[in-house]
Amino acid sequence: MPDFSKDKNKESIYILGIETSCDDTSAAVLKDGKIISNIVANQKIHEEYGGVVPELASRAHQQNIVPVVDLAIKKAGISPQLLNGIAFTEGPGLLGSLLVGVSFAKSLSIAWNIPLLPVHHMKAHILANFIEHDEMKLPEFPFLALTISGGHTQIVKVNDFFDMEILGETLDDAVGEAFDKSAKIMGLAYPGGPLIDKYAQKGNPKKFKFPKPKVQGANFSFSGLKTSILYFLQKQTKENPDFIKENLYDLSASIQYTIVEILKEKLLYAIKQTGIKRVAIGGGVSANTGVRQMLKNLSDEMNLSVYIPNFEFTTDNAAMIAIVGYYMYQNQQFGKLDVVPKARMKF
Ligand code: KG4
Ligand code: ZN
Repeated sequence: MPDFSKDKNKESIYILGIETSCDDTSAAVLKDGKIISNIVANQKIHEEYGGVVPELASRAHQQNIVPVVDLAIKKAGISPQLLNGIAFTEGPGLLGSLLVGVSFAKSLSIAWNIPLLPVHHMKAHILANFIEHDEMKLPEFPFLALTISGGHTQIVKVNDFFDMEILGETLDDAVGEAFDKSAKIMGLAYPGGPLIDKYAQKGNPKKFKFPKPKVQGANFSFSGLKTSILYFLQKQTKENPDFIKENLYDLSASIQYTIVEILKEKLLYAIKQTGIKRVAIGGGVSANTGVRQMLKNLSDEMNLSVYIPNFEFTTDNAAMIAIVGYYMYQNQQFGKLDVVPKARMKF
């Protein structure tokens, strides 16, 4: 193992971040905690399949990884010699996708003699709240983090950068999947979450009632909702084949309302249990208008402090990986060259 203890650049810390856990290939460069480049290559290929196809995702990462990392470094306007660390997603995620990023980070580490910083993807979604942005309102510890995306749904108590405790998580589908699968049942394109959000603005959220799951504590379950929507629509379209088309706005509003109510209930439970009234959110679903309105209402009604990163840092991105790497670098938490990707990873 080379000697990484020397500080290459005493004035500033430069971290390269690499993220390949799912279907986005991303690379970012961070200077002293500030993003100086963040490149994300989305994989359009999955749209026609109505969901992420793991085998296709890893092939696309293989094609994208070199140009994406190259562009991130060029856009940052720095020489790789300046980099102090290479942060990469170790897990959790799709194994074939992770393998591409992990192998590439290791190769760069050897070639450039730069230490590795293996990052937990879910912790990165949370610490994305520390990426400096326009409003610059950073959360104070301890706070609660609600991570809601196509792959994850968690409520985490964040005591410190590296001291986090999962209070609740989904027992089946993630909240983004609940949106996307409901959209698919209604015949909408993938990913359907943003479409449901769009149509919901014009609909009546109380028009149709869908059951909420009975799950203990701060845990979530979304698979029952999908099934009840499926049965409901099968029954309705038997009587009226145009039922979905005629009720698209009200259906979207009612589905969104139910999902947001589920999130709200669990969040209120976690707030009550911990007495913590600071909530940070992350993940693609934090773009949802209903989720944002719910958080705004809570902040007005009960004086809740809400933190939302800029949109580009809520979905999968390498800037959030780099920010975790930045804190790990300062703690000298380096990885070894025999590090392997982990589809499942302990928190
Ligand atoms: O964080 P993300 O980009 O990728 C991961 O899943 O990790 O999240 C994507 C998810 C998809 O399920 C997508 O439908 C959902 O976020 N999403 C939304 C909205 N924007 C993205 N769901 C509801 N409303 C939105 N506005
Ligand atoms: Zn993610």
